[in-house]
This record gives sequence, C-alpha cells and structure tokens, in this order.
Amino acid sequence: MKSFLFASLLPFFAVTALTAAEPIKVGEVASLTGKEAAFGNASHQGTLLAIEQLNAAGGVLGRPVELLTEDNQSKAGESATVARKLVSREKVVALLGEVASSRSLEMAPIAQRAKIPMISPSSTNPKVTAVGDYIFRVCFIDPFQGTVMAKYAKENLKAKRVAVVTSVSSAYSVGLAKYFKERFVADGGEIALEQKFAEGDKDFKAQLTAIRAAGVDAIFVPGYYTEAALITRQARELGLTLPLFGGDGWEAPQLLEIGGAAMNGTYYSTHYSPEDSSPKVQSFVAAFRARWNGETPDAMAALGYDSAMVLADAITRAKTVEAAAVRDALAATKGYAGVTGITTLDADRNASKAASIITVQNGKFKFVQSVAP
Ligand code: PHE
Repeated sequence: MKSFLFASLLPFFAVTALTAAEPIKVGEVASLTGKEAAFGNASHQGTLLAIEQLNAAGGVLGRPVELLTEDNQSKAGESATVARKLVSREKVVALLGEVASSRSLEMAPIAQRAKIPMISPSSTNPKVTAVGDYIFRVCFIDPFQGTVMAKYAKENLKAKRVAVVTSVSSAYSVGLAKYFKERFVADGGEIALEQKFAEGDKDFKAQLTAIRAAGVDAIFVPGYYTEAALITRQARELGLTLPLFGGDGWEAPQLLEIGGAAMNGTYYSTHYSPEDSSPKVQSFVAAFRARWNGETPDAMAALGYDSAMVLADAITRAKTVEAAAVRDALAATKGYAGVTGITTLDADRNASKAASIITVQNGKFKFVQSVAP
C-alpha cells in the first residue's frame, strides 16, 4: 500500500500546523497494474492531485487528508480483499474507487456491510450503487450513455442496422450493450447480430467475419480500450471500412497506441473533454500537467479528482468524519461544481451529467459534441 500524506505536504508551509492534527484517512482502490492499468493510474493521479490541493489549502476540518492507495492489479476478487484491509485494518473514513463496474461491484458489499461510504468515480453500471445506501458515484450511468450512443448512431452516423460486440465477462459491457440495444430498437433501428467475447481475448476474426457477412452500417463495441482497439484493427484488416463506436471504456491513450491508424473515424462517449474551454476545466488541466509531467488528464483523471473533492465537500458539511454523518452529507450533495460538471446525487446515489462525444482524427482524440442529460 502507498500512503500519500507526507509527500503531498512537503512543499507547503502549513506542514507543522497540519501534521499536528490527526490525518483523515481515505482509502483508494485502483487498478495500478495489470490489464486496466491505464484506468487505475489516471484515476489515481486525479485523486491524488485533489488530496494535495486540499492539504495545501489547510486540509479538511483543519486536518490533513491521507490517501491510502491499494492496487488490485486489475484482478478479479482482489478489490474486495484490499477494500476489507482498508476498512478493518486502516479504519479509513471512506473508500474511493473502483473505475471498472465489475470491480466496484466486488468492493461495494464490503463498504456497505461496514457502513463506510464508498464513492466510485466512474463505474457506470446501475447495479453498483444499488448495492446499498453507503454506495455513491459521481458519474452518469449506462442507461443514459446507451441512449446517447444509440441516438448518435442513428442521427449522426445514419446507421440503420448495427452489430453489437459484447464482453460477456464484464458487467459494464453487458449493461451498456443492453441499454444501447433497447434505445436503438425503440428508435426504429435494427440489431442485425450480436457477437460475444471475453476479457483478455485477442483474436476477433470469427466474430468480425460473421459481421462482415451480415452487412451492417456500423459496429457498437461496449468494451474496454484493449479489446476495442484490437477489434477495430482486425475489422480494418478484414476490409470493413464502416464506423465502429463505443462508450467510456474506450477512453485511454492506449486506444490509439494499440489501434493505430485503424482508430481514425471511430467514436465514443465519455465524461469530459480536456478541450472544454471553461475556466474550471482549464485550471484543472493546467494543475494536472504541472503535477504529472505535462500529461493531459483524461476522463478517469477528472472523475478521480471530482470523487475526492465531493467527499471533502461532504465531510466539510458534515463537520465530522463519523461515517453515518458523512453518508448523509454525501446523499445531500447538490450542485457541487466540479471539473466533470455539476454533481447532484439523486435518490439512487447517482449523478446525472452530460456526455462528451469524442472521435479519432489523424491519430488524435477530438471533441465532437456534448450531450446534456
Ligand atoms: N464506466 C466504466 C465501467 O463502469 C469504467 C470507465 C470509466 C472507463 C471512465 C473509462 C472511463 O466499468
């Protein structure tokens, strides 16, 4: 486990005053290594930046915030194990994480049973917060994202018949496929065929050959960046020139590294764009670049940042770190202005925010449009 208190305090004057007070321990579960390392690292960098900014400004309730980060190695089962450790051994006041829905679904029951508030920055599957009243998220959910991409396919890509390629081992993928299909069909579109794969698969030629034979206008791939990029490359190798499109799981620099030129002309929806000219976003982008070697923050980084800030806001309003009071304050979150938009938590502990549609042009991500909830 890594602890991020002292490193974050060093540069600041308030060191003596702040370290005298007992730190507020916040746990973070992230995929820092393994298959979805891009997600975990981006989210962690955003989260840590928020904690450092909070500490530089005097902490929360006059106490420094200590971030205790556990790596689940992108492995199934590991998120529950490390969440348990953070709760029982470290006695964290809240848990931040996970990015991926399947892993948030593993850790949520631990948080709920212990009655420790958990905030997923970016898990979009509806089931995550349905685990219980201590589980929150600061992002939109997949029924909205599925609708956004169904409408985009129909209206902008002019697609009438589409193929859907789903990762059956991912709660996120299965859910997003379902919501997309419901909306696309309700709007008069046709799902010509569905193909399946499992996380970690590398060869998609069989699925793509079937899709080629079916003659569709576009392919929807509700999956994560590794498989999305491989599927797109192999589609091009098979001579398919039609548009491929997906959801926020596509968001990672690796999408372009793995997919190369094949990614040009693809589309996906996500939570934010660093091209957004609002002062809030631009000052976040500048602070992130200064902290992390000139890197540009992606959606996970932005949501990680907002998840920590929403927690700090709730603790400030609760005036205590007592779990039930923090839970109640989180549930009452209204109009919190963050870098991914306004967070208002509804009765199901979900946020409702705009989606950003991104395309790839000449090997680069390009913001297309924002779709309001
Ligand atoms: N929404 C995805 C999930 O629920 C995770 C994700 C979030 C991926 C943000 C990319 C960007 O699993």
